[in-house]
Amino acid sequence: MDVRKPFVVGAGTMGAGIGQLCAQQGFSVTIADVTEELVGNARQKIIRGFDQRIEKGKVTAEEKEAVLARMSWATDLGAARESDFVIEAASENLELKKKLFRELDGICPPETVLTTNTTALSISEIASATRRPEKVVGMHFFNPAVVMKLVEIIRGSRSSEATIAAARQFAEKLGRIPIVTAKEAPAGIVSRVLAGLLNEAAAVYEAGIASAQDIDEAMKLGAGLPMGPLALMDMIGLDIHLAKMETLHQKLGDDRYKTPEIVREMVARGKLGRKTGEGFYKY
Ligand SMILES: NC(=O)c1ccc[n+]([C@@H]2O[C@H](COP(=O)([O-])OP(=O)(O)OC[C@H]3O[C@@H](n4cnc5c(N)ncnc54)[C@H](O)[C@@H]3O)[C@@H](O)[C@H]2O)c1
Repeated sequence: MDVRKPFVVGAGTMGAGIGQLCAQQGFSVTIADVTEELVGNARQKIIRGFDQRIEKGKVTAEEKEAVLARMSWATDLGAARESDFVIEAASENLELKKKLFRELDGICPPETVLTTNTTALSISEIASATRRPEKVVGMHFFNPAVVMKLVEIIRGSRSSEATIAAARQFAEKLGRIPIVTAKEAPAGIVSRVLAGLLNEAAAVYEAGIASAQDIDEAMKLGAGLPMGPLALMDMIGLDIHLAKMETLHQKLGDDRYKTPEIVREMVARGKLGRKTGEGFYKY
């Protein structure tokens, strides 16, 4: 399938990044969030990112303008009626995603493929809100979407092979490397494997064994990680991490996935990481 008009739902960390990636790869893309302020902030963030890279001589002002010109912004899903490929990257909440998929199913042409960037929610449950579950699949980008090469294609129980092939092909057109799961699995591969590491790092911090800086430095020096686990959690967003762990705990019924209390407290106090200016570190 040759995607002509991708549509991204959500202009947060992931949606804005995926939208920018689409535009950088030559697609005319529309990105929707719920308010003018949210889409305005996302656009400004992309502009600031470009300006920093222009200063460093990594891109030109013309390239920036060309990318921005391919990005349209919306505060409702109406423009999805012209889209042949949707990437949903709204907040990690099952009821919200089901509502969005029900609406998208009503708005989009019947052949449109609907994908979700969910970290850990069930693709099949999200697909069940539509009359086209065979055209629904997980398409899990990584943060920052313009940099990270992997896209996990996560099957729903009814995703068709044609849909998987379309998602794989689109990921390749975006310059990413797709890896397709053999079956439906909450949190796919990377997020599930990382879940244990991030939780354990928070538990070591909670137990007062070392400072956040020292835990991260130790993991970089001793485990060869490119980035410390607590800095990574700040980048992902503590709320997103917690939501993923709760889904894994509920779906897999294993107490390994119980999140340390400190993460819950930080989320309750709004310390979500980079996006709120404070998490394990201050920004
Ligand atoms: N943050 C990460 O590292 C990461 C990585 C991979 C996948 N994900 C997944 O991507 C999705 C988005 O995560 P994020 O980190 O970008 O979250 P975020 O909180 O930064 O952004 C979510 C955005 O969705 C918007 N939204 C909520 N309801 C909406 C609606 N009805 N219509 C349109 N937009 C709506 C919110 O206003 C917000 O701007 C989640 O499912 C998350 O699990 C996140």
